[in-house]
Amino acid sequence: MADLTDFIQQVKRANDIVDVIGSHLELRHSGANFMARCPFHGEKTPSFNVNRNLQIYKCFGCGESGDVIKFVEKYESCTFMEALEILAKRANLKMPETVGERKDKEFNERKKKKDVYLQICRDTAIFYYKCYYGPSGAKARAYIEQRGFDADTVKKFGIGYSPDNDSLVKFLQSKKYDLEDCVKCGVIQNGKYGYTDALYGRLIIPIFNMQGQVIAFGGRGLDQRTIERGKYKNTSETPLFVKNQNLFAINIAKEQKQQTALNNLVVVEGYMDVIAMYQAGFKSAVASMGTSLTENQAKWLSRLTDTVYICYDGDAAGQKATVRGLDILDRAGLEVRVMTVPEKLDPDEYIKKYGKEAFEQLITEALPLPDYKLKLLDASFDIASPDQATRNNALPKYVQGALVMLKALDDVRQARYITAVSLKTGYSEDYFRRKLSEETVDEPLPELTVTELSPEDKAKYFVAACLLRCESYATIEEKPICNSAFLSDLYDYLLTCKERDEAPTTDMLYTVCPNGTPEQYGQILDLDFSKQRLEKNERYFKECKRIITVEKLKRKREELMAKIKNNPADSSLLTELSELSKKITDIK
Ligand code: CTP
Ligand code: MN
Repeated sequence: MADLTDFIQQVKRANDIVDVIGSHLELRHSGANFMARCPFHGEKTPSFNVNRNLQIYKCFGCGESGDVIKFVEKYESCTFMEALEILAKRANLKMPETVGERKDKEFNERKKKKDVYLQICRDTAIFYYKCYYGPSGAKARAYIEQRGFDADTVKKFGIGYSPDNDSLVKFLQSKKYDLEDCVKCGVIQNGKYGYTDALYGRLIIPIFNMQGQVIAFGGRGLDQRTIERGKYKNTSETPLFVKNQNLFAINIAKEQKQQTALNNLVVVEGYMDVIAMYQAGFKSAVASMGTSLTENQAKWLSRLTDTVYICYDGDAAGQKATVRGLDILDRAGLEVRVMTVPEKLDPDEYIKKYGKEAFEQLITEALPLPDYKLKLLDASFDIASPDQATRNNALPKYVQGALVMLKALDDVRQARYITAVSLKTGYSEDYFRRKLSEETVDEPLPELTVTELSPEDKAKYFVAACLLRCESYATIEEKPICNSAFLSDLYDYLLTCKERDEAPTTDMLYTVCPNGTPEQYGQILDLDFSKQRLEKNERYFKECKRIITVEKLKRKREELMAKIKNNPADSSLLTELSELSKKITDIK
């Protein structure tokens, strides 16, 4: 761990936060700081502040704050380790093999192999792209034209064409790749005709990962003979790609998020739907590629947005597997809204037929997931039928379905929907509540209330902030009582610095306390350390240290009293107690 922290520090020193952020956002000087429009929430006037001295950023609009690594993590929607690697590369630093998960030798081997596969996929994509524009690509170009896609769209998605069985094989050979590696990443296959292009004769749609690297391909058949073997054929499962774990066009959605905060992200089924939507101006659509959604896909989505619109083809949307997929998104904390496209059209067909404004309208009419489930129940069980027998038959089934829907909800939404369902069915709210509690165990509620800080905690945040800033008067001797991981980790860091005789830095806050809440970071960052405040701060610092010491002594006294209770005969304990009590009154 010490190794990792040192390396993190080295990477940070080599990557000035103003330079890094400045390469992505337009920064303007504002006094000692820099301002920009916040990339993490939509805004017109800049409230995103970058502080070169402290090497941190903070948005006064949305409250987001962090150091250079956290910025990359958020901006690239990647993990901490990936961000570290990006910054290490930027500064020409080599990730030490012993850092974090890289300790694992096997991991290193796998990573090397993956790099080879990525290179193969990249070269293959370029090959297909060139073929699309070459003489053999006429058929593909005609098809694209007939579907109404323009040159910009083709370029954006890197659409290509596989002309035949063996051109790709020869090309990869000429690039000196091991053909077995090419088989492993799925671009060629080894069968009774030897090595052949896995997608030959098809229009090629490359699939990219979040970092914009090609990881797989989808191939659409263009003639009847090919289509008979599957309208689409995808790269099979490889170390880079598993169909139901990835999302088509996630790279483009991420790019959109970098330009403007995403206000909606639409999940559709097909490649062509995403492409058609892009061309119509809906640039944040991704495709689940015809399978139902998984937790991994929910994870990718939640890195980009809070609200997901689901736009599935008419018959697919109501299927059980689909609804299960939507529950997965809901459980991942995403707000799920379901769109309904009339006439069983898919988004591509709908936009062609009715235009983009009409599609926009479908987005605004999307139903929250629970309402959508009720709509499915309405369609299955006719509880409003004029025929009493039909009604009587349908009602219990509808109620059963509603219970299943209600059970998936958190308490707040459950209360709301119980009212709605009760009105609709005529069953009392109590009935639903009773039924729901029958089969569920009572789990204690997580504490959500935001409490005012105690004077002790306030003091601890203030002392830590002064130490982080290396204020001249700030010293520390021992760790205070810390009742949050945040404070405990922070003080461990401050004391380690003292031990090593190193100056702490504010930006390390995000390394040693990676899971802090905006409020916690705010307690440290939102203090005024201007020259005018120097004397006041110094006085308050002394007061805070006193508060912290008293708390600690009192805790000791409590422990001592407990000991005395168990050993009332031990007189040395009593002496200790009276000394301790005197100390407390003195210091107070
Ligand atoms: N799919 C697949 N294999 C198939 C059929 C479909 O992998 N044999 C996946 C593809 O990702 C496809 C998606 O399921 O994009 C949705 O299928 P479909 O609605 O048939 O495809 P569209 O994108 O609408 O394609 P097109 O408009 O060209 O028919
Ligand atoms: Mn289609």
